[in-house]
Amino acid sequence: MAINGIYAGSFDPITNGHLDIIHRALKIFDTVYVSVIDNIEKDPLFSMDERINLISNSIQSDRIIVEGFQGLLVDYARKKNIFNLIRGLRAVSDFEYEFQMSLTNRSQDPRIDTVFLMTEQSYSYLSSSIVRQLAKLNGNISDYVSDYVRIKLKEKFNGSKRIT
Ligand code: COA
Repeated sequence: MAINGIYAGSFDPITNGHLDIIHRALKIFDTVYVSVIDNIEKDPLFSMDERINLISNSIQSDRIIVEGFQGLLVDYARKKNIFNLIRGLRAVSDFEYEFQMSLTNRSQDPRIDTVFLMTEQSYSYLSSSIVRQLAKLNGNISDYVSDYVRIKLKEKFNGSKRIT
């Protein structure tokens, strides 16, 4: 029986830290669903379709499925019939929030478990908002995102062009 996992997040945009977690997750799970939340509260820079496109162009594997979802993560997990959630831990400071989310999700459905993977040390301070800020102010982001994401961030902040 295949063992699948869901790695959910905003991915606005996907960073090398997220990619590192996906690579690690592929060593454990047969298929990894990279699930992009349509989170209007966060007012994302990239639309959901754009974020899906950025992920699909940053990592390729027939064991990765990239798709969007709305609403509660547990409802999405139930629909998929996958009860393994994947989360990355960057530093001890992530733990409390992750612990709370993990237990909340399990309180909604006891079948849910969360697998925590520690990110590469060099990405331990990375976040999507840091990448957005650097890109906006013309900082060097080449160590933090894929070439595709770097180009699309440049286009975004230089106006005009849209992601195709
Ligand atoms: N490398 C780089 N950055 C990372 C990272 C890693 N390994 N892990 C986390 N981050 C960053 C993200 O880029 C993000 O940065 P930003 O705030 O600058 O955008 C930040 O850490 C938080 O990321 P994350 O914890 O993934 O939050 P999220 O908002 O992207 O996604 C969901 C969280 C989608 C899993 C959660 O909100 C959810 O489940 N929502 C659905 C609603 C629901 O079910 N709510 C109840 C849950 S208890």
